[in-house]
Amino acid sequence: MLVDLHEQLRALRLVLQLRDVLLHRAPVRHGGPLPRRTGGAALAHLLDRVGLPPGAHAVELGCGPRGNLVLLAQRVGPQGRVVGVERRPEAVGRARRATLDNGAVVEVRHCDARSTGLPRRAFDLVAATMILFITPRPEEVVAEAVALARPGGLVVFQEGDIVAHTCDPPLAAWERLLEALHHHARQRAIDVHVGRRLPRLLRGAGLVDVHVEARTRIQHPGNDRRSGLPALIDALGDELAGPLIPTRSELAELRAALEQHLADSDTTVYSPMYVQAWGRAPSP
Ligand SMILES: C[S@@+](CC[C@H](N)C(=O)[O-])C[C@H]1O[C@@H](n2cnc3c(N)ncnc32)[C@H](O)[C@@H]1O
Repeated sequence: MLVDLHEQLRALRLVLQLRDVLLHRAPVRHGGPLPRRTGGAALAHLLDRVGLPPGAHAVELGCGPRGNLVLLAQRVGPQGRVVGVERRPEAVGRARRATLDNGAVVEVRHCDARSTGLPRRAFDLVAATMILFITPRPEEVVAEAVALARPGGLVVFQEGDIVAHTCDPPLAAWERLLEALHHHARQRAIDVHVGRRLPRLLRGAGLVDVHVEARTRIQHPGNDRRSGLPALIDALGDELAGPLIPTRSELAELRAALEQHLADSDTTVYSPMYVQAWGRAPSP
């Protein structure tokens, strides 16, 4: 039991660190809120374009301790309905407090996004950001999302893909560390490439009019985000040592080479790719 708990905590730590790297966030620091530069801003931008009218019903799957619930509540207004779905009890409690503090009327349900028990074909919008990359069978979440959307309703997923996270000039240590990271994630059923699969997952679940957008950013010298990869490596520590990097000293050498490369202002660093894909539930 204790071993299970320990494993779960380690997996959660990896998830949080990966999320920060994939969302281009600075490493977690104590004493201040994390900036929200991608998830909410990207969703708001999409809703500006496709519209979410006042009075609409929206649900966010895997909302975490806050997610996009306040944004959605602001968009649908007092006549609308917003439901958050989250499986971690502490995140449910925090999401309830965060929405209350913002004066938003939101129902946060403690349940699994793969089987929410919510009414079928009932929501104008189903949104999920950064949840599939920690879900072993992501198609199950997508299927539930599609089942919740009313005919013509909008389903949007936003996920990261570490593919774009690269540098120039190339560095052998970078490649080896990323390979070890992939291996580590795969062992824990974490797909650091799920972003690229979104259009296929959405079409496969029966959505129509599927669109996708993706972007990467430059992590300039002096920008906190540039240290995301070393921070992730530090967070994983010895866990990264394994078949691909057998010894601690080898890991330390690779880490040092990475640090030196990042410190060089002539090194161009590209962020992970951020993918937003959306589609409509088919009308009968
Ligand atoms: C990386 S966090 C992202 C939180 C939020 N969507 C955001 O963008 O800030 C992923 C969240 O999804 C939740 N989650 C993952 N799989 C889930 C599932 N099957 N059912 C419900 N929640 C899930 C996790 O507990 C976690 O809080």
